[in-house]
Amino acid sequence: MNIKINKLSEHTGAEVFGVDLKLSSDQRVVNELTKAFSKYSVLVIRDQNLSPNEFYESAKIFGKVFQQHNKKFALKENDLVHYISNKDKFEDGKIYIPGEGYHTDHSNDISPPKTKETAGVAIQFSTPETLPSRNTIPMINTALNTLESGGDQRAHRHNGAALTLAIQAESVYSKIENEKVNWEDGVVLITPGTELHSHHNRGSKRMMSFVVQDEGLHFYLRTTGFSWN
Ligand SMILES: [Fe+2]
Repeated sequence: MNIKINKLSEHTGAEVFGVDLKLSSDQRVVNELTKAFSKYSVLVIRDQNLSPNEFYESAKIFGKVFQQHNKKFALKENDLVHYISNKDKFEDGKIYIPGEGYHTDHSNDISPPKTKETAGVAIQFSTPETLPSRNTIPMINTALNTLESGGDQRAHRHNGAALTLAIQAESVYSKIENEKVNWEDGVVLITPGTELHSHHNRGSKRMMSFVVQDEGLHFYLRTTGFSWN
């Protein structure tokens, strides 16, 4: 197969041509799609003609398939596959737009769904008073960040600086630009704004840290500037 991938916007999304998901056990295709998903977060895979069960099988390329808690749009052939349509209407005739309202889907579950590329779970400390941001107070956001044993957080950069208080730091280290920084329990690490960084857990326990960032300020200035490496 001759796979072609076109970026769809500056930050997110790509369309994929030249893939038949019915043949998705082809390891080269799996690797290409996994890499593209990791890079673009949303993939539009063109020209597919799949039954619900074939769609379900091909979705496994990206990780373990999980049950959506809202089963309203589940297909009868396979209830792990849901449809999206612009033809559904409310009783008053208004078009139903899936996902129109503020929602979190499953990202706040005790065990959130993960793709093969996902590492770590974070709890953001926020309040409805600071919506639409997820800040704790207008200029500052805080979170409890975790990373499973053996996990690697993908290298990224953002304009906000981070103060990271290490709570569970056994055999955890960060890479900031090309410098390796070992973590210690109770010690605060500074990640300067714009510098490339990633976190790595080689310990036997889940890494845990409390992070304070000035992303709130950047949110309102529209200067967040987040990017993966
Ligand atoms: Fe970061």
